[in-house]
Amino acid sequence: LKHFITTEGLSKALLTEILDTADSFIDMSEQQVKKVPLLRGKTVVNLFFEASTRTLSTFELAAKRLSADVLNLNISTSSTSKGETLKDTLQTLEAMHSDMFVVRHSDSGAQHFIAQHVSPDVAVINAGDGRHAHPTQAMLDMMTIRRHKGAFEPLVVAIVGDILHSRVARSQIHALRTLGAAEVRLIAPKTLLPRHIEMLGVKVYTDMNEGLKDCDVVMMLRLQKERMKSALLPSESEFYRLYGLTEEKLKLAKPDAVVMHPGPINRGVEIESSVADGPRSLILDQVTNGIAVRMAVMSMAMSGQVAEKNNRMEAAQ
Ligand code: CP
Repeated sequence: LKHFITTEGLSKALLTEILDTADSFIDMSEQQVKKVPLLRGKTVVNLFFEASTRTLSTFELAAKRLSADVLNLNISTSSTSKGETLKDTLQTLEAMHSDMFVVRHSDSGAQHFIAQHVSPDVAVINAGDGRHAHPTQAMLDMMTIRRHKGAFEPLVVAIVGDILHSRVARSQIHALRTLGAAEVRLIAPKTLLPRHIEMLGVKVYTDMNEGLKDCDVVMMLRLQKERMKSALLPSESEFYRLYGLTEEKLKLAKPDAVVMHPGPINRGVEIESSVADGPRSLILDQVTNGIAVRMAVMSMAMSGQVAEKNNRMEAAQ
């Protein structure tokens, strides 16, 4: 691994290595994430151009558990507000000898652009780009599923809600398909489904009662109102009636089905509070697993950068 921009196109072996590496960071006796010296002497910069609670905090904790120095650039008070371009901001941070940029941006493809333009000594990790990808979220979801269900092969997984605007759903679909889940179902109104999404090897349902039948995992998604034109906003009460996960609807899934949500959750819009806080909810486990998965991705990307740098230096001699 060199940069980590998307789960699309990555091999099953690599995704499994990320999950195994993440597991190795958990002290089984205490169920705590260990502190290790893998990134000692390295500098990680968190650059979040969009709001975040979970991703920013767990990337910061993960970098600290890897013993890196961490800088969180506050974009709203940075010189971006004075008109500095993204490229100039990145060059400025590179001049401080940064080794890794963790980036969240509202433009799909921003991290791919950054990875192409930064110094070859800097690793770029995608912390969410527009509607495109949120690969570390997908991998912490995979870790959560594997820790609760074991193998992916027998699982029927339903992803429910605003698929159209969800970078999480795209990254989850690629990861679940690659890791061999038996069936990936998407449940949403037609207006919140991307066109031709079936081409990704998923089954599409517009009726939630049909789609939830005998599922092992139910992944709920937030209505991404900030990415919708106001005229196209669905009515929250109508959305909840048809696509909200209530205790009653959850009875359609398997009796041991688990409930997940990447957060932030909107109670009473896509999920009933008693389900979000109930015994089958893994929502807070997902947050915890984010630390170990992000440690895995950062340490693997840094190893990839170092190996590539050594190769370049050998070739230059
Ligand atoms: N799941 C997720 O990306 O949450 P935040 O926006 O709080 O980081």
